[in-house]
Amino acid sequence: MKFSDRIQRVQPSQTLVITAKAAELRRKGIDVLGFGAGEPDFDTPDFVKEAAIKALQEGKTKYTPAAGIPELREGIAKRLKEKNNIEYSPSEVVVTPGAKMALYEVFAILLNPGDEVIVPAPYWVSYTEQIKLCDGTPVIVEMSEENGFVLTADLVESAITEKTKALVLNTPSNPTGAVIPKKELEKIAEVCLKHDVMIISDECYEEFCYDEEHVSIASLSKEVRDITFTINAFSKAYSMTGWRIGWVAAPEEYIKKINIIQSQTISNPTSFAQYGALAALEDKGKFPAMMKKEFRKRRDFVVSEFSSIEGITVPTPKGAFYVFPNISEYIKEDIKNDIDFTTYLLEEAKVAVVPGSAFGKEGYIRLSYATSMDNLKEGMRRIKEALQKLK
Ligand SMILES: Cc1ncc(COP(=O)(O)O)c(C=O)c1O
Repeated sequence: MKFSDRIQRVQPSQTLVITAKAAELRRKGIDVLGFGAGEPDFDTPDFVKEAAIKALQEGKTKYTPAAGIPELREGIAKRLKEKNNIEYSPSEVVVTPGAKMALYEVFAILLNPGDEVIVPAPYWVSYTEQIKLCDGTPVIVEMSEENGFVLTADLVESAITEKTKALVLNTPSNPTGAVIPKKELEKIAEVCLKHDVMIISDECYEEFCYDEEHVSIASLSKEVRDITFTINAFSKAYSMTGWRIGWVAAPEEYIKKINIIQSQTISNPTSFAQYGALAALEDKGKFPAMMKKEFRKRRDFVVSEFSSIEGITVPTPKGAFYVFPNISEYIKEDIKNDIDFTTYLLEEAKVAVVPGSAFGKEGYIRLSYATSMDNLKEGMRRIKEALQKLK
């Protein structure tokens, strides 16, 4: 076998372990409730599907410009102005195959071997592995449950060294649902400007903010905008996870380099999927607002259920569609860590959740409430019953 050092540094997702076990139980005919999924349970709206079908029928099935069709780049720039209050010209926007590829491309154009990127933990699983794939070094800063897992400027500043190239921001956060308030974002931006650190702002869950307004860090000032990559996608907001359409917006010189990567790798994001995304833009947030209403009810239910379990604490997530309860009180005897805990829940309660260690935070679990209220009610009943047995 002849592998590059690069691929040897990267881990497969730990979440796959639990997913594989759940799939195995299902194959045996056992009714497993899955709360691991990172995608809305709603179908993609019909108006999006119809626009893609129309594009197919009209023969829009060929290569598009590497950076995406001009109408979509224009539409995204307009949306960034109207919704996020950031000035970007269409030439400062690239349409990408999802936010995930946007992030990878940003790391690829920024990082030299040994460059450090600050990643606040708990973090979304791909940041650290993508940074390593691009020869960078992830530097983890630990956010605290007491502070609702909200990143602070002090934490960022404490992690900065001469090698720091960038900071990853994810608000609202996967896995905690934490939303960084504007005041703190201002301080974080100040620290980044002072130390010449770029900001990579992953705003995939911006449509799902329940108690705290979403603020795009690039909207704070022209100076901040100039050091920021604003990343987002249609995946979560329009339940289009399989369509693979997202974007990155940044000053034009960076975007030109990202275009080079796209032209030499993917060629372009899928042509007809881009027309679907164009239709999603025209909806101006009505569809995600509908989902948000449902998610809020589910969040309130799940938080109140977990809060009623002895030995479990759970900060109320202000956004996204995940809860991140602290289960460390249950780590004893046969349950040696959060992975054992999730295995116990799977085997005893037939409920699949993800261990916190997959997100760089041991002693926690992540449960996605992007599933029906009936599933959540039954899942919480089973979890409570299984935990009762551990007493
Ligand atoms: C925080 C975060 N960023 C990025 C992504 C990837 O989004 P996409 O499906 O658009 O690539 C996800 C998906 O789970 C996510 O949770």
